[in-house]
Order: sequence, then C-alpha cells, then structure tokens
Amino acid sequence: METRIRKVNYKNIDLKIIQEAGRILKSGGLVAFPTETVYGLGGDALNPASAEKIYAAKGRPSDNPLIVHIADKADVYRIAEQVPEQAERLMEAFWPGPLTLIFPKKPLVPDKTTGGLPTVAVRMPSDKIAAAFIRAAGGFVAAPSANASGRPSTTTAAHVAEDLSGRIEMILDGGQAVIGLESTIVDVSEERPVILRPGVITKAMMEAVIGPMETDQVLIAPDSDVKPKAPGMKYRHYAPKAELMIVEGETKDVIATMNRLTAEAELQGKRVGIIATDETARCYERGLVKSLGARNCEGEISMHLFEVLRSFDETDVDCIYSESFGGAVIGQAIMNRLLKAAGHRVIKV
Ligand code: TXA
Ligand code: MG
Repeated sequence: METRIRKVNYKNIDLKIIQEAGRILKSGGLVAFPTETVYGLGGDALNPASAEKIYAAKGRPSDNPLIVHIADKADVYRIAEQVPEQAERLMEAFWPGPLTLIFPKKPLVPDKTTGGLPTVAVRMPSDKIAAAFIRAAGGFVAAPSANASGRPSTTTAAHVAEDLSGRIEMILDGGQAVIGLESTIVDVSEERPVILRPGVITKAMMEAVIGPMETDQVLIAPDSDVKPKAPGMKYRHYAPKAELMIVEGETKDVIATMNRLTAEAELQGKRVGIIATDETARCYERGLVKSLGARNCEGEISMHLFEVLRSFDETDVDCIYSESFGGAVIGQAIMNRLLKAAGHRVIKV
C-alpha cells in the first residue's frame, strides 16, 4: 500500500484533504493525524475491523486498549455509560486538551477497541486539524500513538512515515506536535479518580478542580510486581536501540560522571551518545552530544524528548548517557518516559 502524505496548514485547513481522510476512515482504512500531544494512528472507533488493522499496523498486542478521540464534548455521553460529576468538572477545566478520561463503556463501543475491557478511554484533543478530521470521520476516532510498538511516540509526520509507511492509507502532516508527551490518563470509572499515566495536566492542576486523587501504584513503585491499570504501561516502551542510562545528581557531578563513563566506553571501542541541555552541552568533551533544550523550559524538554531518542537510532552509538529531568511542573511526566526508555537504569552520583 502506498501511504499518501498530505500537508495541512493550521491557518487555512484544506477541507478537501480532511474529507478525503474522513472517507478513508469511514471505509475502514487508517489515517495518522497530528494532535497537540503526539501523532495518533486513527481508525473508526466503532468498527471492530479498524481496531484490528491498527493493532496490525503498529505491531501492537491486541489486549492494549485504544483511546477514542472525540471533537464535541456531548459525544462522550454516547459512548460512556456513566459520567460522574468529578469527570464533568475535569472535562470543563481541561477539554479540549491533553487529558484522557476512562469511563464504563456503552455497548456501542466494540470490545476490539477497548482490548476486551468494560471501560473506554476518551480524549478530546485541542488540535484544530485533529478536531476537523474527527468530525469528518464520523465523530469517534480510535487512536494510539502513531509509532511502531515499542518505539518512541511520533511528534512529526516524518517520524510517522519512518514507522508506518506502506502500512496505512494516509498521514496528515500538521508539523511538529507542540507538547511532545502523550496525554495524562485518569480513571474516573471508580469511586476515587486515579492517575494512570502522568502528562502535562498534572495532579496538582486536577486536584485544584476536584480535590484529592490517587496515583496508580505502578507509577510510584515501577519496579514492583503490581499490575498497571493502563495495560499499555506494562510494555517496554520508547527504548532506543542503544542502551540508555540516566545519570542523576548535582549538575557538576553528573557532567564529570558522564565524561568519565564516556571516556571509559570509548576505550572499549564503543560509540557514545549524550543527552544534555543547552546549558551543559558544551561541557561534554566526547561522544555525540544532543540537547533537549533549555533546562528551565520544561516545554522545550518535553517537545524534543522523543525526537532526540529517535534520532540516536539513525546513528551508530552503542550506549547513551542522559541527564535527569525532574522539573517542578511536568518533571514527573518527562521522567516517566525517560525512565521507561532507559529500562529504569539510573546511576546516582
Ligand atoms: O496523547 C495521547 O494520549 C495520544 C494521542 C494520539 O491522543 N494517544 C496515546 O495512545 O498515547 P496510546 O495507545 O499510545 O496510549 C494509551 C494508553 C495505553 O497505555 C492504554 O493501555 C491505556 O491508554 N488505555 C486505553 N484505554 C484504556 C482503558 N479502558 N483502561 C485503562 N487503560 C487504557
Ligand atoms: Mg503509545
């Protein structure tokens, strides 16, 4: 199959292209599209055959449920059996935006879409191209992140093409995804809301709206045997081909340690990659150094994280050392992704 790539301009959305993409979904095909978080791989959420195609295109296990994307708030009531009051307040505060909520599902949503679960994850993206596309596709678009299973999520159309070209009908190219990390996921299907995946909508932001929330134990103690409530969180994720290791501590100690480890690895004939910041990049004497952006700008770090992880796969580095990024606001979300990419290998100095 040839994958068509269509550029769409935010300032002047070409409805002919959007309608073409909508028709592809209605006839059971797949279209990757931009959202404010990462690119999504979209199929018709109400068509079980489309869910199967998504799993096949990504190489993803089919017990891993898909998020249903909507463009109008009222549509949540068509697929969710109950929408508790706390959920309504979160929707009011953060939709459209990077927040996914999990509800008990209505029978209209096929089991294939939810990986056999009795619940459905729903998100209303703020991205304008995404909203236009969802409406053109009939209102309910199932979409995981548009990457091959296990690889970092995609933040540009070129990254999507790298992973999925030849496997899907179309890619809508809306440029770089501005947030760069996937949505926060909250389960509102039980008594007390539980955060299953951290994102740029933080616990503190949501607690200001609805009061105390829980965090899935897996996020607190990732090495334990506790089963994550979001099935996808159990899978190996984001990992670059080279072995990634995080170095954590005072900046000057981190730099000294990374320089020493790099020199040692090079003596063994290894090629080394380094993940740094604008402030520290020049302090590394050896290795292939890439910066995520300014350390005090968490938005820059999150926007470039997956791009930098991916870009190392095009090099011949054997191992990568990364600085640690526990910033004040979205640090938890950034570190959650980086720790997964590193298989939780951390050197504390
Ligand atoms: O920002 C995002 O959320 C992006 C964009 C495309 O919207 N989507 C995304 O989808 O990250 P995906 O499939 O890569 O991650 C969805 C996560 C998975 O870990 C999955 O297991 C979990 O959400 N999930 C989906 N439905 C669920 C449900 N009913 N109960 C628990 N977890 C669920
Ligand atoms: Mg994903």
